[in-house]
Amino acid sequence: MQPYPYIITISSEKGGVGKTTLACNLAVYLRALRESLPVTVLSFDNHFTIDRMFGLEGQKVRGTVREMLEGEPAGALAHTGQYGIDYIPSSTAERLSPLLERFQDPWTLAGLLGESVLPGVVIIDTRPDLNALTRNALFAADQVLVPVKDMASLENCKNIIALAEQRGLERNALALIPCLVDERIKYDGEFRDQKTLLRTFAAERGYRCLDTFISKSPKVESLTTNPDGKIYPILTHARGTEVYGQFREIAQDMLRVLDAVPEPRASFLYRSRAEDDEPRQMEEYPARREGLADHCLICGALLAEHAEGCGFYYETSDRARRGFLHTACFVDLLCAALYGMTRDSQGYGIARLVVSDKARKLVTVISPAVSSGSYRVDFRQFDAGGEQLFHKEVILDTGAEDEGEGINDRLFLLLNEALTGQGAKPGKGPWLAVHPVDPKHPEAVLGEEHYRAVHHVQTLIHGMAGLF
Ligand SMILES: Nc1ncnc2c1ncn2[C@@H]1O[C@H](COP(=O)(O)OP(=O)(O)OP(=O)(O)O)[C@@H](O)[C@H]1O
Ligand SMILES: [Mg+2]
Ligand SMILES: [Zn+2]
Repeated sequence: MQPYPYIITISSEKGGVGKTTLACNLAVYLRALRESLPVTVLSFDNHFTIDRMFGLEGQKVRGTVREMLEGEPAGALAHTGQYGIDYIPSSTAERLSPLLERFQDPWTLAGLLGESVLPGVVIIDTRPDLNALTRNALFAADQVLVPVKDMASLENCKNIIALAEQRGLERNALALIPCLVDERIKYDGEFRDQKTLLRTFAAERGYRCLDTFISKSPKVESLTTNPDGKIYPILTHARGTEVYGQFREIAQDMLRVLDAVPEPRASFLYRSRAEDDEPRQMEEYPARREGLADHCLICGALLAEHAEGCGFYYETSDRARRGFLHTACFVDLLCAALYGMTRDSQGYGIARLVVSDKARKLVTVISPAVSSGSYRVDFRQFDAGGEQLFHKEVILDTGAEDEGEGINDRLFLLLNEALTGQGAKPGKGPWLAVHPVDPKHPEAVLGEEHYRAVHHVQTLIHGMAGLF
């Protein structure tokens, strides 16, 4: 099996918070703590810090980050440099910016790195903004580290957090690190100091904030200014500072997290994309038609007899089951399951319009899970770009007296029938995606072009490890 890298992305929208320092020094520490672990560093920024720290005297380099982004295998561009670190030489901003357009799809970098045959850990240093490359780096990451140093960088990291959330990154895959902490600064009241303030903020939002922070140190600052133009690592040149020990703790923390991961995200994303490509080639239009269910899974009516008003197409995440649903059946089901509303409810007409309107524009993903003894159903809605616009989890009380016109039963039936025999593991899918289609020509969705679009969204959704 080919190796997949474990990707750590360092990101913050605020400049000068210590991203690059963290990226380079984390690499050195990881490698020092675990000799057998290959570590590759690359930067989307253009300050050449990486090259100055890891480049070897007289080393001839071939290719840069730009060539990697253009599709050259990253493994072939990684140069082994100082301290045993592999680095991909940096590019100038002028050479990178024309590529941004190609990275509008947040998948792209994950795909490149998945195919890169890079083993071990890849650390990505990003620019202090959320451009397309940063977004890609966030999307590909197993672990995102966000250095924060003050209230302004805290404000800024909200966008990164929101983006990571939309992209379906698990909450524990993102951690804040208080950086450049000046322990002399004290506040009045509850938040005694910088660290406490940052930690409280992180905790309130359910994010991990590393126990370790990085102190501000004049010695560390001086490591970037040397007569030979080089930049020295903390490990080798700042012994005796607090930062020296803090970096070791952070690296140990990362190793613990890394060791606990069953499968790197790049591997998962790559695999789901490969799985997505295969049936697309193999399975042609007639086969897609052949596989359609003969009845609406909600009302049970045979579609040969009740073909009118089929405005939704569903497919399971493994593509084992597919078919059409009556518009009315699906919309009523959503109203009942999501809002507990039935035809007799007050304001049902309006509510139904709103629900219907959303379902007609978005892809609805329904995924069941059994957790803490109850049967839960997770509803999400995504737009064509794979952006999550709605999320609600409902608990299906299958035992209780059902007021919603048997809605629990019908939902249960739908999921049961569509997803049976797929060995549902709680939290691991499978799931059902419901796409709006033209009720006049529902089967047009199976046509090559339309079906490809359906699958593009489905792949984006599938890529969101940790969602289901
Ligand atoms: N622990 C530290 N103590 C003192 N100075 C530090 C420390 N860490 C980094 N610095 C200094 O702070 C400055 C900014 O650090 P760095 O370049 O790592 O930040 P950055 O977030 O990558 O910045 P940018 O957004 O511009 O890329 C540098 O001059 C660096 O030497
Ligand atoms: Mg930087
Ligand atoms: Zn129906």
